[in-house]
Amino acid sequence: MKQVYLDNAATSFPKPPSVIAAVTHAVKTLGGNPGRSSHTLARAVADAVFDTREAVATMFGGEAERVVFTLSATHALNMAIRSLVPKNSHVLISNIEHNAVLRPIAALHEEGTSYSIYQSAGSSETLLSSLKKNLRPNTAAIVACHRSNILPIELPLKEIGAFAKAHGLHFIVDASQSAGVCEINSEAMGISALCAPFHKGLFGIRGGGFVLFGKTVKDETLAPLITGGSGSDSQSLFMPNALPDRLEAGTLPVEAILSLKAGIDFINEVGIENIRQKEETLSAYMRNRMLSLPSLRLYMANRPGGSSALFNLRGYSPSEVARLLDDCGIALREGLHCAPLAHRLSGTQTSGALRASVGYFNSKGDVDYLIDCLKRIPRRA
Ligand code: ALA
Repeated sequence: MKQVYLDNAATSFPKPPSVIAAVTHAVKTLGGNPGRSSHTLARAVADAVFDTREAVATMFGGEAERVVFTLSATHALNMAIRSLVPKNSHVLISNIEHNAVLRPIAALHEEGTSYSIYQSAGSSETLLSSLKKNLRPNTAAIVACHRSNILPIELPLKEIGAFAKAHGLHFIVDASQSAGVCEINSEAMGISALCAPFHKGLFGIRGGGFVLFGKTVKDETLAPLITGGSGSDSQSLFMPNALPDRLEAGTLPVEAILSLKAGIDFINEVGIENIRQKEETLSAYMRNRMLSLPSLRLYMANRPGGSSALFNLRGYSPSEVARLLDDCGIALREGLHCAPLAHRLSGTQTSGALRASVGYFNSKGDVDYLIDCLKRIPRRA
């Protein structure tokens, strides 16, 4: 049966052959634990890990030592939020945040931190005036989901960063859906903590994420979520002060880290703008074709951009449609996508919806197949 993968917002698939080769090379030949031993193999792994920090820093405009590897973007966001949003302060979050932000903020809220939700679906001016309206004397930080995981909404990082700087606030960015697709320069955009996973737009494998901390963030304010061996300052009972060791306890996910380096090399070769254009052209094509199906409801149909289409079929629950499409070999994600706030914007917070998300390796033929399969589903009133 034909297989069509349209769940790239959950994890990109397939991976470039160079990424698979990098992982195989790491497993087969790169024994040794980086930063723990001084033998040749361990040093070779440590060098390869450092090369990856440099590749991240170059791609996102920061310093290699300030790239902290984590187990996921969620882990990275928890780390950034715990570090940069002090107890009893106030934080501004957008109305498209993922649960990777909402839940850590809710946990802080239980401990006395307050938060406000700013509006992000309109123009930059509307967004900035919503930020201004919600600002409080104890506001410590702004969190921005760069790109929604379900809707064609992309937040203006440069403008939000300038606002944060003007008001002395930290600026935390969730780039889970944008890293590898959109140009991001942390320094120029005034980002204090840029968080992303390896396995989505950066083409790495699952099992890793990172935070890139800005230069203005003081190392000693950064709170390790877990403590343990760092391979440095071993006599101390506390984590070292300096980054990245301060926040990296335990053995690093080396294979995933080396897949990230290969993924970044792939993006540099293809060109990030070409990747974005290809995905946006394909998603515009998909959204246009969906509009020709009378029983399909496409949400935010008039907004351009993004790599996804959020939709429902009249008379069917999202899970029924997902099952019927799965029977045709089509992979997509239904439900609430861990994004209850964004679903409020599309009015699907109760019903949920289906998301088809394209990636660099999809083709028009994949979209045509999706449309054909949707057409074959019997109409219901
Ligand atoms: N956050 C991922 C998604 O949107 C997993 O599916």
